[in-house]
Amino acid sequence: MNELQSVVESALAEFARAATPAELEDAKARYLGKNGVVTAQLKSLGALLPDEKKARGADINAVKQAIDAALVSRRSAMAEAQLEQQLAAQSLDVTLPGRSRGKGGLHPVSRALERIEQIFASLGFEVADGPEIETDWFSFTALNNPENHPARSMQDTFYVDVKDDGGRFLNLRPHTSPMQIRHAQAHAKKHAGAATMPDVRVIAPGRTFRVDSDATHAPMFHQVEGLWLGQDVSFRDLKAVYLDFMQAFFETSELQLRFRPSYFPFTEPSAEIDVMFGSGPLAGRWVEVSGSGQVHPQVVRNMGFDPEKVIGFAFGSGIDRLAMLRYGIDDLRLFFDGDLRFLRQFA
Ligand code: PHE
Repeated sequence: MNELQSVVESALAEFARAATPAELEDAKARYLGKNGVVTAQLKSLGALLPDEKKARGADINAVKQAIDAALVSRRSAMAEAQLEQQLAAQSLDVTLPGRSRGKGGLHPVSRALERIEQIFASLGFEVADGPEIETDWFSFTALNNPENHPARSMQDTFYVDVKDDGGRFLNLRPHTSPMQIRHAQAHAKKHAGAATMPDVRVIAPGRTFRVDSDATHAPMFHQVEGLWLGQDVSFRDLKAVYLDFMQAFFETSELQLRFRPSYFPFTEPSAEIDVMFGSGPLAGRWVEVSGSGQVHPQVVRNMGFDPEKVIGFAFGSGIDRLAMLRYGIDDLRLFFDGDLRFLRQFA
């Protein structure tokens, strides 16, 4: 019995020493396996007399049960320890700050655009919107820029491989000026038969496209078209409106405008508008911000009005250019690279 007792003790000691489940199973085999100590004891029973066999058998069985129980408890202790270790390794630190979605911000060009819309709305202008893929007629012909006219080469236009009803290729509008025609025509239709036609007073901001790319030109850029037509709208009104706009946009009255004679087929006379700031890094330099002019009588006619009765002005300004000036950006391409380091500055 003493000898059996020591078998149990050494088995328990080995189970306790086993560091891994594999070591534990090895230890088990040494006692309960086919060639194990306990198995050998059981086999030796055969040589005993029946009386001895019974008593000895019961003793060995008790040993076997004790070892079995020790094995089971060691196994579950090991499994528990392993689980705990695993949990510790994968533990969640609930005190870590959450992964937030981050607050987005408006793109600087969108910000400029919103400002422009607000300012012109406060000056009594509607805001209109129109297609970016245009017909030849709206982009050029209606704007007094007929086929084969050299002025068409002022804009290196992208064409779309689709033709309009007249068999002419559609284009990606090279300016927002087609919106002059579209909006004025809709206005004329809406107020047809009215005793007095209300003035057309609208801006039309949007994307425009030209085959052009460098630090100050992108193939896709933004313009805002302005149009004011009425019975007695003159260049003087253009100057006043544009000056109000510029001062509000740049939040300074310390700026001057210059109207420099120019040419556009759809305006006569025509002028480029330059701005000069009174202070800041660009102070004292003329910077071009817009084309403008008195709407050409032929264009007024194409809009559906009588040029003897309706007169006014139009302008087309680069929104990206205005945003660059406002935020002090010197490379237009930064707007369109989508680099968050740049964009986050405006959030
Ligand atoms: N459409 C002209 C351009 O893109 C700008 C312009 C608009 C000029 C309206 C005069 C009147 O260059």
